[in-house]
Amino acid sequence: MANLEAHLRVPGPTPLPDPVREAGAWQMVNHRGPEFAALMGRVVPALQRGFRTTGDVVLVGTSGTGGLEAAVVNHLSPGDPVLAVTVGAFGDRFARIASQYGADVTLLEVTWGRAAEPDAVRDAVAAMQAAGRSPRAVFLTHNETSTGITNPIGPLAAAVRSTAPEALLLVDAISGLGALPFDTDGWGLDVVITGSQKSWMVPPGLAMLSVSQRAWEASERATMPRFYFDLKAHRDAAQKGSTPWTPPVSVCFQLDVALGLIEREGYPAVFARHAACGAATRAGLRSLGFELFADPAHASNTVTAARVPADLDWKRFSADLRGRGLTLAGGQGALTGQVFRVGHLGYVTVNQILAALEILEEALAAAGRPVDRGAALAAAARAADRASAQIADPPMDASMSAAARADGTEVQA
Ligand SMILES: Cc1ncc(COP(=O)(O)O)c(C=O)c1O
Repeated sequence: MANLEAHLRVPGPTPLPDPVREAGAWQMVNHRGPEFAALMGRVVPALQRGFRTTGDVVLVGTSGTGGLEAAVVNHLSPGDPVLAVTVGAFGDRFARIASQYGADVTLLEVTWGRAAEPDAVRDAVAAMQAAGRSPRAVFLTHNETSTGITNPIGPLAAAVRSTAPEALLLVDAISGLGALPFDTDGWGLDVVITGSQKSWMVPPGLAMLSVSQRAWEASERATMPRFYFDLKAHRDAAQKGSTPWTPPVSVCFQLDVALGLIEREGYPAVFARHAACGAATRAGLRSLGFELFADPAHASNTVTAARVPADLDWKRFSADLRGRGLTLAGGQGALTGQVFRVGHLGYVTVNQILAALEILEEALAAAGRPVDRGAALAAAARAADRASAQIADPPMDASMSAAARADGTEVQA
């Protein structure tokens, strides 16, 4: 079992660092009491630094999908025109939630495996305007977990802003935020959603959403029904150091500890580690003979999708991998049976990627496929070295780094 835990390489839930696991066993506290208020006083500013926002960040006890639903129902009314830019299964899901609640959704569907292009988004917004349906909101996916693509959110947001400055920008950043450079305020994003079980190295159970001032104003006018997901109730409770409903207290403990670990490592180092793991995974899989699914120019550093070779029985092969201690993810939606996915986000190092590649190599050899023993590991290690030096980190806002120093949580274990 210990071996199985060591090689859980799916794109969330991710493995947990020991201090995060231990925090899951702590005794309960009153979620309306001073200990929980103190926790909220640490966690919310730490998340604001992670999101790079000075706006509100709210914690909702739900999965990522619940976070997407909260983003929809708080800011839209039935009949509102929405442009949903989708590059895969999760972009489709975001659009479906809005349709289900009665929004008038226009899809901009990008070929799976490719990123969205700013010009195409600008044209789609302009076409909606020309038809008298200027979008009330535009939905974007930061990191499309089903295809292994990271969208260029800054340029996409700028394309929307230049065409429809009044449109709200709602961004699913569930599987990228915390691992990849991101700038909520700098990019002018209104609602950003992430989930605890992804880059944050925490079990499933919490969605975290940032909400801009103009999104709060929109929520006053928005009429979609909401109760559990009423973000204003969450904001009001947060101001008193609590949540409106009973939160997953243990997951909150774990998030507090994990954010301390992340800030002690430092976001630039976290981003560089993910860049190295992403590059190692891609190079290793290529060297083992797999064809990568995503456009290399936008390949994700948190998840890699590779095509299942036509002559490989994936079900049998993945069962063999599991027997050897490596768990990978299959394809989703239209890609079921066509790709497999390797998660490399959260609590992950290049050495763990090399270990996973070694297991893959052994399983391929055992299946009688030609493998050049050791070549994939060498290629992966070289790629990791090249990548870790190359990641660019957007400069942190001076007031936010001052806040980080002032409350000291960046050095908390
Ligand atoms: C990009 C993206 N959006 C949404 C979700 C849905 O999150 P959850 O499964 O926590 O509801 C996921 C989960 O993998 C995701 O990766």
